[in-house]
Amino acid sequence: MADAPEWKARRANTAPTKPQTIIDPATIVHEMRVLKSAEEIELMQRAADIAAEAHVEAMKAARPGMKEYEIEALLEQIFRRLGAAGPAYTSIIGAGANATILHYINNDGELRDGELLLIDAGAEYRGYASDITRTFPINGRYTKAQREIYDLVLEAQMSCVEKVRPGTTHDQLKSHSIEVLTKGMVRLGLLTGDPAELIKEKKYEQFYMHGLGHMLGIDVHDVGRYYYDKKSRALEPGVVMTVEPGLYINPNTKDIPEQYLGIGVRIEDDVLCTANGPRVLTNKVPKNAEEIEKLMAR
Ligand code: GLY
Ligand code: MN
Ligand code: MN
Repeated sequence: MADAPEWKARRANTAPTKPQTIIDPATIVHEMRVLKSAEEIELMQRAADIAAEAHVEAMKAARPGMKEYEIEALLEQIFRRLGAAGPAYTSIIGAGANATILHYINNDGELRDGELLLIDAGAEYRGYASDITRTFPINGRYTKAQREIYDLVLEAQMSCVEKVRPGTTHDQLKSHSIEVLTKGMVRLGLLTGDPAELIKEKKYEQFYMHGLGHMLGIDVHDVGRYYYDKKSRALEPGVVMTVEPGLYINPNTKDIPEQYLGIGVRIEDDVLCTANGPRVLTNKVPKNAEEIEKLMAR
């Protein structure tokens, strides 16, 4: 027999036993989403490959005089052509000093000779996101100052990727990036003083003001807890996270070497933690400065 209609069910003598409490299953489901299955990893690899191909095409296409939205359109038409549903989040296309604005999405500026272009764009493929950032010279050659900042961010990025291993905590990764970047900023004259003191006083935050990365999956900023009892969560095989340090030097900053003013660099990869170490899902798009210059010269 079909269930009694709601109005009948409310009569005391016919009412079925109804649940008295509602438990939000989110905390259980969210934890289930943290460790990716082999099938999920396959989909995430495809999402990463699609975005990587689009980033490579953007590097080849960029020219002084273009608009940021032309690059945005190029990336997103490639996403669709390769089978993605579209961008996994609003693409960030920041030329010159626009790269120093963290969530810049106007994407209507001009690409100028001698400046950098920061692209943060990822694809959504069958429900799974990728999230890639690359920063490259619009005319195909980094200036000396751009290269110094770029190589420092790359040093931090690569040494953090290397630490995406079972047992490393999210806080350890962030601390490591702060240490590498702070020491480098002292070397370049962006900060002055003892690195340990500067870190204690969080002086790096003027130039590095966001987290090192986040878990990635169905959502770009995926679900799952980062802390348990105030203790930073350790990575496990099956976790996919982004590693995305950056340096952002506001053009109005006082008392720093002026060649660095207006430079913004972020480098972001999607990394699967495995029992044998990190597996970079997004390694089909170059991040070494010489490799990028070589690709752009073609
Ligand atoms: N694109 C968003 C992020 O990098 O977190
Ligand atoms: Mn990200
Ligand atoms: Mn991103």
